Amino acid sequence: MKKVGVAILGLGVVGGGTYKILEEHREFYKKTHEIDIAVESVLELRKERALALGISENKIASNIAEVCSNPEVDIVVEVMGGVEPARTFVLAALKAGKSVVTSNKELYCKYSHELEKTAKKNKCGLFFEASCVGGVPVIRALLDNLQGNKILSMTGIINGTTNYILTKMTNDEVSYEEVLKEAQKLGYAEADPTADVEGYDAAYKLSILSSLAFHTKIPFSKIYREGITDISIEDINYGKKLGMVMKLLAVGKNGENGIEVRVHPAFVKNAHPLAGVNDSFNAVFITGDSVDDVMLYGRGAGALPTGSAIVGDIIYCAKHDNFNYSTFSNSEEADPATKFVTNFNSAYYIRLSARDKTGVLSKISSIFSKNNISVAQVVQENDKRANGSVPLLLITHDTFEKSVNKAVEEIGSKANLAKVESVIRVIS
Ligand code: HSE
Repeated sequence: MKKVGVAILGLGVVGGGTYKILEEHREFYKKTHEIDIAVESVLELRKERALALGISENKIASNIAEVCSNPEVDIVVEVMGGVEPARTFVLAALKAGKSVVTSNKELYCKYSHELEKTAKKNKCGLFFEASCVGGVPVIRALLDNLQGNKILSMTGIINGTTNYILTKMTNDEVSYEEVLKEAQKLGYAEADPTADVEGYDAAYKLSILSSLAFHTKIPFSKIYREGITDISIEDINYGKKLGMVMKLLAVGKNGENGIEVRVHPAFVKNAHPLAGVNDSFNAVFITGDSVDDVMLYGRGAGALPTGSAIVGDIIYCAKHDNFNYSTFSNSEEADPATKFVTNFNSAYYIRLSARDKTGVLSKISSIFSKNNISVAQVVQENDKRANGSVPLLLITHDTFEKSVNKAVEEIGSKANLAKVESVIRVIS
């Protein structure tokens, strides 16, 4: 029977989960794949973590050189997170002829060109299913199963922390600040939540997924990014009344005018399958020119779901000798021939605080029509404010972002008409 030795770099939540899956399923993998996968080495500064998992002292390495020179190790699993020292360790493992499985989205997003070049040079495998959307097998779907398609678009809820926060705000009608505090207490959100709530985590993942989907390098710097910190409970509640839910979306489109890549909060109409993706669940909705719509749904984080993706990569790696790499030129920057669209096309929800006077609505309408914006729905709420203004909610048909910005600017310049309080993209 083929024997495969694994080293795990980092025994945090995901490393520990991966170790448990490998140990508990060892006999199962022998039976189902005729491969004996054994953890031969771990690198973890907090030795007590390894001992608590039942790993014997002689398998705890004291540095990366020890892992790289261990002849029993075939595959190195990097689950440390962050760029350094993960990058140095992964490069060392590849140079030592070990294949690498990583869950590190920031590392793969920023250095995929360097890692892949080193892997190819040393004839090693480089696997990263766990870097995006945890246990949801979207990377292999893009790399293998969907290759027959030109992928036209991809819309995802690919950050569990923000989806948990927005779901709680929607269901319990509590503010962002209150939910964040509670999520931090429960350990769902990090003490420093910036990477999640400001959309960096989702942007790293979108950079990886859209590069694979559109067969060209989409660097992180090309992704438009907005987080959820300014989302108000007021807009979430108005959205509910209008049949929409608020989500942090990662959107990638490959159209005639170029590629559009963006991460931002958006209203999703209730009829869209992504509207039902709640709590910390993730989903990616992909449209291909042959397959039409495909949605992959599941847990985007956690010890066992992410461990499931890692172990899937380990088994795939163990069963293949000729490795697949990206289906595009994996460079640091975007290919100069790639065009990026920045004047996004979308429907918009616009909340105004308007003077409740004859003629105000028609003046606002004329500003929209002057800017070629077709309004699909107008709702005037009855809750009159102390200053006599009323909330006016408008939903546009699909239009261009530049036109919306111009209209908003023009409304803002007309004193005594209305104040634009929020502008949120809408996906139907
Ligand atoms: N912080 C990430 C999330 C974990 O909230 O989805 C997995 O990347």
